[in-house]
Amino acid sequence: MALDKVHRLIEPGPVILVTTRHRGFPNVMTNGFNMMVRDAPTLIACTIGPWDHSYQFLVESGECVISVPTADMAATVVDIGKCSGADVDKFKEFDLTAVAGEKLQAPRLAGCFANIECQAANSSLVVPCSLFLLEPVRARTDPSQPPPRLFHHHGGGTFTLYGPTIDLKDRMTKWQYLL
Ligand SMILES: Cc1cc2nc3c(=O)[nH]c(=O)nc-3n(C[C@H](O)[C@H](O)[C@H](O)COP(=O)(O)O)c2cc1C
Repeated sequence: MALDKVHRLIEPGPVILVTTRHRGFPNVMTNGFNMMVRDAPTLIACTIGPWDHSYQFLVESGECVISVPTADMAATVVDIGKCSGADVDKFKEFDLTAVAGEKLQAPRLAGCFANIECQAANSSLVVPCSLFLLEPVRARTDPSQPPPRLFHHHGGGTFTLYGPTIDLKDRMTKWQYLL
C-alpha cells in the first residue's frame, strides 16, 4: 500500500469542526486528523495545514474551539472542508450559528454535540508537522441532544459512523481511573 494511504488503516479521531477568531473575524474548518494525547492535564492534537486560513488564525490568536458534529451534519461538514474562510463567510454560507465562547474569543457552534474551548499549549510541532497541541479550558455538551453518533473519516471519501457500544468495564481492572 502507498505510504500516503496508511491513514486509512488506523482509527483517526472523529471528524470535528475547528473554529477560530482573529481580528474580529470568525472562521471554521473541518478536521479529521486529530487525537487525544493525554487526559490529565488534557491535551488534544490536531493537524492543521499552513494552506488553511485557520492555520494563521490559530497561530496568531493561540486559541480555537473544537466543535463535535454528529452524523446528521456529515454532508455539511464535508462541504465546510471544501472551501476557505479566505474566500467565503462559512457561517453565512452554511447557516451556522456562532455562539460566543465562554472563556475564549473563538466562537462555539450551536447544534454540535460538544464544544471544547482550547488554548494552544505547545507550538514546537506546528512548523515541522502542522501539529497543534491544544489544552481544553472549557468543555460543554448539549443536553438536548440524544446520545451522539459521531463519524470518522477513513480517507478516499469514506466515513464510518459510531456503531454499537460494548461494555468491558469488568475487565478494566488496571485502568480504574478511566471508568
Ligand atoms: C473530511 C475532511 C477532513 C479534513 N481534515 C483536515 C485535517 O485534518 N487537517 C487539515 O488541515 N485540513 C483538513 N481538511 C481540509 C480543510 O477542512 C480545508 O482545507 C478547509 O477548506 C480549510 O478551511 P480554511 O481555509 O477556512 O481554514 C479536511 C476536509 C475534509 C472534507
